[in-house]
Amino acid sequence: MGKSFSKHSSSTFSPSKFIPSNETQIIGAQVCHDICRELWGQNFIAPIHNELKNDDFKVLDVGCGPGSWVCELANDFRASCYGVDIQPTFPTQKPRNAQFHIANILNGLPFDDNFFDYIHVRFMIMFFTQEEWETKVIVELFRVLKPNGYLEFVEGDAMLNMPTSLKPLSKSGYPLLSQNSLPCLIRFECFLQETNKLENICHERKQLILGDWSNNPLQNKLGTLLLGLIRQSFKNHQDIFYSYISKKDFDKLLEQLPMDCNWSKAYIMFHRFVGKKKLAEN
Ligand SMILES: C[S@@+](CC[C@H](N)C(=O)[O-])C[C@H]1O[C@@H](n2cnc3c(N)ncnc32)[C@H](O)[C@@H]1O
Repeated sequence: MGKSFSKHSSSTFSPSKFIPSNETQIIGAQVCHDICRELWGQNFIAPIHNELKNDDFKVLDVGCGPGSWVCELANDFRASCYGVDIQPTFPTQKPRNAQFHIANILNGLPFDDNFFDYIHVRFMIMFFTQEEWETKVIVELFRVLKPNGYLEFVEGDAMLNMPTSLKPLSKSGYPLLSQNSLPCLIRFECFLQETNKLENICHERKQLILGDWSNNPLQNKLGTLLLGLIRQSFKNHQDIFYSYISKKDFDKLLEQLPMDCNWSKAYIMFHRFVGKKKLAEN
């Protein structure tokens, strides 16, 4: 397959460090889900509203984390909703039509071929190398997706509009700072096209400010929440930054980040890609 969209190689990046595991990180993932839903006004853009009313319509969320997206969809619709994750941070209480499974997609998903009508994958781009995406992840997603089923990805990029004070941290491997630049995501669209297995590929974007520099109250509310999550996440992973910045400078940076974001009008661009699996390969 053609151009590269994933800048990290398995030797320089350790995704397992960024898998949410403790309670703070799990709550962070849930708040992040709320921010996404509020920003888009919905949990998906695939044209499946009517189909979701049927209990035989099967939905899969890959890398579902604490399962907020799955539970919400299962609460809102009758469809059968499945979540898989390499780590079982699944909810203890869930709707009747929701189920969760532990699985590492790199080793294959525990489902039959052509099983799902719709697959949702959010904030996973950085967890796999280019080669893994091409030879394992996308292959597995297409295996379990029915012909005419929809595949939807949600990702965010921040590098272009982060305050310059964060530049020293860009080599640290922290996902938000290291690889999800806009060009990566444009190439992700090319990557999906080059699979030649999807039709009607649609790419939508939504900007979310960081901090509260907008004159839009919803943007300010979500931007403040997101910045809080990012600061907390920097703190959780502070050890990875100390090769690039002293502890004293790091603490100062965190303290000044809200001001820096407002001053530089920082924002993150969120992207959604959706396409329909072709009946047969051309
Ligand atoms: C950044 S979190 C996103 C969680 C969720 N999709 C969301 O939007 O809130 C990435 C998730 O992918 C999971 N993950 C990472 N590698 C995986 C793999 N090889 N197979 C399955 N899940 C994986 C992590 O455990 C984590 O829950």
